Amino acid sequence: MDNDIILETKNLRKEFGGLVAVDDVSIKVRKHTLHAIIGPNGAGKTTFFNLLSGNIEPTSGSVIYKGNDITNLPIHRTIHLGIGRSFQITNIFPNLTVFENVRLACQSLGKDNAKFWRRASSFEQYNQRTSDVLHRVGLEKRAAQLARTLPHGDQRKLELGMILAPDPEVLLLDEPTAGMASEQVPELIALIQEIQQSGDKTVMLVEHNMNVVMQVSDMITVMHQGKVLAEDTPAAITTNEDVQTAYLGGLYQLDM
Ligand SMILES: Nc1ncnc2c1ncn2[C@@H]1O[C@H](COP(=O)(O)OP(=O)(O)OP(=O)(O)O)[C@@H](O)[C@H]1O
Ligand SMILES: [Mg+2]
Repeated sequence: MDNDIILETKNLRKEFGGLVAVDDVSIKVRKHTLHAIIGPNGAGKTTFFNLLSGNIEPTSGSVIYKGNDITNLPIHRTIHLGIGRSFQITNIFPNLTVFENVRLACQSLGKDNAKFWRRASSFEQYNQRTSDVLHRVGLEKRAAQLARTLPHGDQRKLELGMILAPDPEVLLLDEPTAGMASEQVPELIALIQEIQQSGDKTVMLVEHNMNVVMQVSDMITVMHQGKVLAEDTPAAITTNEDVQTAYLGGLYQLDM
């Protein structure tokens, strides 16, 4: 086993009736990198993430995490192992405060739960961990506010906080900037980069904004109609002819 690879798929496939949403995808994600998945609408990016996180089961193929086959593990198990994910649609509890949202994520999830969080002193530890996470995502001043009253950009930060709460090793972020005002995007992206660079975390990112992708990614996998069209560094992807051709439908253009 290559110790440098944290997550790997082998011929991963998902069919929905006659539709092949993910078509025998084999990729390798290196530890501590920011690995982007791009591709036009319907390319299979979200379905691929759903397979990685255990939200859905593949038709065939396998998912290997740190050398172990996790293919058919349900999402609560993959979270426990250190795979955290966001959803394309905001996924917070609107009528709880910012603090309560993150504390719930600390309490209910996490790889250290069994051995650490269940101690008698855990209540204080949840609160401390929650404060740390809120500080990290820059929401400490919003702690007492109801989540639904946050501006959209702060809701996306809160989601990031909820993913960080159980201290995952891999973060699967599905369009974290979706629906954000463009002037808020750089701040969230900087935060994601900071999280990835400051420690032991690997980030997989689905993102439609090509400027962002090219700027932050170590590696890019391009999906098209369920298949991997190319996998390379940002510089090489930019000049890849297959990629250029696939995007010439005006879906989006790689002109930076
Ligand atoms: N539960 C489902 N049942 C049937 N078809 C599905 C299901 N989920 C996804 N699909 C189909 O699978 C294909 C891939 O969808 P997916 O959501 O993975 O694409 P995507 O790359 O995330 O697109 P987008 O950029 O729009 O988010 C699409 O044709 C979609 O309609
Ligand atoms: Mg999607």
